[in-house]
Amino acid sequence: MSAHPAPRTRLTLNDLRTKRDAGDPLVMVTAYDFPSAQIVEEAGVDLVLVGDSAAMTVLGYDSTVPVTVDEMLMLTKAVRRGLEAPLLVGDLPFGSYEASDELALATAQRFLKEAGVDLIKIERGGTTVDRARALVNAGIPVVGHVGLTPQTATSLGGYRAQGRTADAALAVIDDALALQDAGVSLLVIEAVPSAVTAALAPLLHVPLIGIGAGPDADGQVLVFHDLLGIHAGGAAKFVKRYADVRGVSVAGVRAYADEVRSGAYPASAHEYAMPAAEAARLQEMLALR
Ligand code: KIV
Repeated sequence: MSAHPAPRTRLTLNDLRTKRDAGDPLVMVTAYDFPSAQIVEEAGVDLVLVGDSAAMTVLGYDSTVPVTVDEMLMLTKAVRRGLEAPLLVGDLPFGSYEASDELALATAQRFLKEAGVDLIKIERGGTTVDRARALVNAGIPVVGHVGLTPQTATSLGGYRAQGRTADAALAVIDDALALQDAGVSLLVIEAVPSAVTAALAPLLHVPLIGIGAGPDADGQVLVFHDLLGIHAGGAAKFVKRYADVRGVSVAGVRAYADEVRSGAYPASAHEYAMPAAEAARLQEMLALR
């Protein structure tokens, strides 16, 4: 048997559409570094997003706004190195695409050339539909993000569910349809009542991935640190925790600290041996100094 498993084939956008048409839910998750990429690869997800949520989950900022293109590229490149089969989505951070088509194109091209992403994601609002159209026209596959869009959360009234009135729901649906018309390949819808997703889904031909948007999307996305319980503190209502990695990690480091302090670590099993004759010779050499 070979020591190296056969490389897995990269999924394509056609594969996603085929799965969606067959009624197979699409699984998307975020990842931010090489080990998290290897974990989600092994778990067999369809899409991996290096979200600008990295600003908070791994870089310690208090919102997604401050994260830079260079910071996102460093994380995205690490994820690329750990992935084979899933499609990789790079997230263009706040301020890196809104001002002009040229800026959006230059930033997106860096994500493709330097980090090897398959698609880039941009958030709704302002100039986004024009930017999406320009990127698609330049041959760059785009994911649109509607509903709660953290980069512009302040203008949406904070980190809160969107589309809770009929008028507001229609605005979310119109954002999604405008992005679909601009040619995006996929849509993410975040933090809206399930009724909004249920109304939108039949109007779309592109796959729709929900986060806090109920069961009627074609797939779901969650943040790696949320679903594994890596955070201290609370999470959004829609997050389901599937593990307590923070608890296990703190317990592990605490056990290590206890053993260092008690002398239980390192034990003889963790030591390198030296032939007794060499140890004796070393003592003789030191004595002659
Ligand atoms: O940045 C991110 O992680 C996201 C997902 C929550 C969709 O945009």
